[in-house]
Amino acid sequence: MIFVGCFLLLLCGLTRVMASYPIWWSLAVRHQYSSLGTQPILCSSIPGLVPKQLGFCRNYLEIMPNVAEGVKIGIQECQHQFRGRRWNCTTINDNLAIFGPVLDKATRESAFVHAIASAGVAFAVTRACADGSATICGCDTRYKGPPGDGWKWGGCSENVDFGIMVSQEFADARENRRTDARSAMNLRNNKAGRLALSDKSFLKCKCHGLSGSCEVKTCWRSQPDFRVIGNDMKDKYDSASEMVVEKHKESRGWVATLRPRYNYFKPPTERDLVYYESSPNFCDPNAETGSFGTRDRVCNLTSHGIDGCDLLCCGRGHNTRTERRKEKCHCIFHWCCYVRCQECVRVYDVHTCK
Ligand SMILES: *[C@@H]1O[C@H](CO)[C@@H](O)[C@H](O)[C@H]1NC(C)=O
Ligand SMILES: *[C@@H]1O[C@H](CO)[C@@H](O)[C@H](O)[C@H]1NC(C)=O
Repeated sequence: MIFVGCFLLLLCGLTRVMASYPIWWSLAVRHQYSSLGTQPILCSSIPGLVPKQLGFCRNYLEIMPNVAEGVKIGIQECQHQFRGRRWNCTTINDNLAIFGPVLDKATRESAFVHAIASAGVAFAVTRACADGSATICGCDTRYKGPPGDGWKWGGCSENVDFGIMVSQEFADARENRRTDARSAMNLRNNKAGRLALSDKSFLKCKCHGLSGSCEVKTCWRSQPDFRVIGNDMKDKYDSASEMVVEKHKESRGWVATLRPRYNYFKPPTERDLVYYESSPNFCDPNAETGSFGTRDRVCNLTSHGIDGCDLLCCGRGHNTRTERRKEKCHCIFHWCCYVRCQECVRVYDVHTCK
């Protein structure tokens, strides 16, 4: 209810009553998302936009579906990276605060989601510019400079900088509360996500020539596969820096800043993730922290990692059931060219946490 009120008053981001993460992320899930392609977007109907975002939405209406898609790509990547972990990046599709209370705290998990969503928006917008589905942007023509050894510029250099600008303008717009440490944290993590995207963009080349020779090579700037960003952000989640909040009085009033908690670790760069509150253990359901607990989660009996039954089930033990799955088997390749398979039933043991 609180969220709806906030949406009507357009006060989201100005008050601290509601979620500490963007409500507009809800565009990326289920109902809200599926209607994006078919109906014109009404910016004022997007929940939780601050006035600056509303203005941006109206000016860049054409790419708003890509902004939403970018958050969706980010969330899907989050769910992939965290699939075997106690917190697995579950979204609650019928709630405007799509992660529930979990991301209200300034934890590593919050840091990760902000970074991956911010990178996702930049990624999806960049892709739409390059494949021509958006018309207000296109290929990056600045990458036509002097060619390198044995190759020349050609194809469409993806306009990563435009995507990053959109993500920065839109995703950062609500984080302008200088008095709020969480704003400072969100800004840093948003930026870390976008920097990963530009750092991992690379020169992609294609050979042209008789029978596959490489007489002429054309190259363009390309975004990485989004999985590359996900893996990088996951490493950064594992090595995220714990900060403490400091408040200073400046001429314009109180300002919140973050300082590393431990000075014997290397201080974080702008490419690192930062957080200042510790995570709940996610073992047991807890409505207040938003933890679902790990009961009934599938665990891996042979793994000693966090996806193993010991750690994932938090020492409570596990149940085992057998599952019969139909699979293709005894496949034979027929000349030319098809494969014919039989269907076999295989029996699997499935372990789930008690
Ligand atoms: C993630 O966790 C939720 C809540 O425990 C569970 O319902 C869901 O099946 C899990 N998803 C995956 C992919 O394991
Ligand atoms: C379970 O963990 C083992 C050891 O880490 C790994 O080799 C195996 O692929 C995992 N199985 C599944 C289904 O993920």
